[in-house]
Amino acid sequence: MRHRVQAVIGHSTDEAVFWLRQGEPVALPTETVYGLAAPLDRLDIIHKIYALKQRPADNPLIVHVLDCDQLQEVAQCSPKALHLAEKFWPGPLTLVLPKKPCVPDIVTAGQPTVAVRAPQTALFREVIQKIGVPLVAPSANKFQHVSPTTAHQVYRDMGDVLHYILDGGACRFGVESTILSLLDERHPQLLRYGPIAKETLETFLGQSIETVSHAPQTGAHLSPGLYKKHYSPQTPLYLVDDLANYQPSGGLRDAFAKNAAHVFLFPPERHLQKGEFVLSEHSDLQEVAMRLFAIISELDAAHYDAIWIEKAPAKDIGNAINDRLSRAAHFDLRAK
Ligand code: TXA
Ligand code: MG
Repeated sequence: MRHRVQAVIGHSTDEAVFWLRQGEPVALPTETVYGLAAPLDRLDIIHKIYALKQRPADNPLIVHVLDCDQLQEVAQCSPKALHLAEKFWPGPLTLVLPKKPCVPDIVTAGQPTVAVRAPQTALFREVIQKIGVPLVAPSANKFQHVSPTTAHQVYRDMGDVLHYILDGGACRFGVESTILSLLDERHPQLLRYGPIAKETLETFLGQSIETVSHAPQTGAHLSPGLYKKHYSPQTPLYLVDDLANYQPSGGLRDAFAKNAAHVFLFPPERHLQKGEFVLSEHSDLQEVAMRLFAIISELDAAHYDAIWIEKAPAKDIGNAINDRLSRAAHFDLRAK
């Protein structure tokens, strides 16, 4: 049994490196969400990450590198993969490629492929540099909980099992990276919606990209970010098209009215009432994404009986927002 600990939230990359050398995973900020990091060659710490997150062993981890040189140490890269990395890195694009032998099986869940990205934040990059090898890092939340976008959110979910949380402020994007598989170069597949839109990648590559919307039922999961249920709060979450004009019917009236939180993406054309929240005062989708997980997590902790939230326009990062919302929702009441 692991002793209960109490995480320190701090700003020192030296301290993060100290704890990694002590054999402890540390939470680090990226531009997407906070990650729970371990050096690629420290199997002991990687095992701890699975245990602390209560993450199934068939769910592989993303390897975080500094640049294309480090990418080529862990994966076999085609010119197309390098071209994408040069364009979008450092940034929220994860590439799935054939792995090289130095990547241990526990990282890839035994698959011959590896997911790699170069994070943008200076703090994360500094830790990679000081440790001298890539860092594996899943999101710093317990399995199927909401991904953390602030140091305090990490603390709430995992503060009793971690020693150190490196605080880099709120994550700039707030949803996890876009995942693109390049295993079949002629048919790239989008495995997870993220901050870099599918259309942007299609334009850059000059070819269409297939979206894989569900994990296969058997064997190692293609990409468990595609679990149908994921990112879930404990409080029932209702997803609707247009909250300002939503009219609950029948059995939904109570759930809509009694001790419920109502979350608008943009300001409605009237004053807000108690229990109503707005994600972006400036009607900016980017800001909605940035605040989404934090507000769901806060409202979840605030003991509402239900959370009602509306879907985003299906463009740019809106697809990633809708994807996360539909996985978090207990009741999806959108018009189909
Ligand atoms: O933005 C992000 O990607 C964040 C930050 C911390 O970098 N990380 C993150 O990690 O979201 P995680 O573990 O929560 O999600 C990683 C996703 C999972 O859906 C996993 O199945 C997929 O990446 N993945 C990892 N390796 C894979 C592989 N070889 N093939 C396909 N999918 C893979
Ligand atoms: Mg995750």
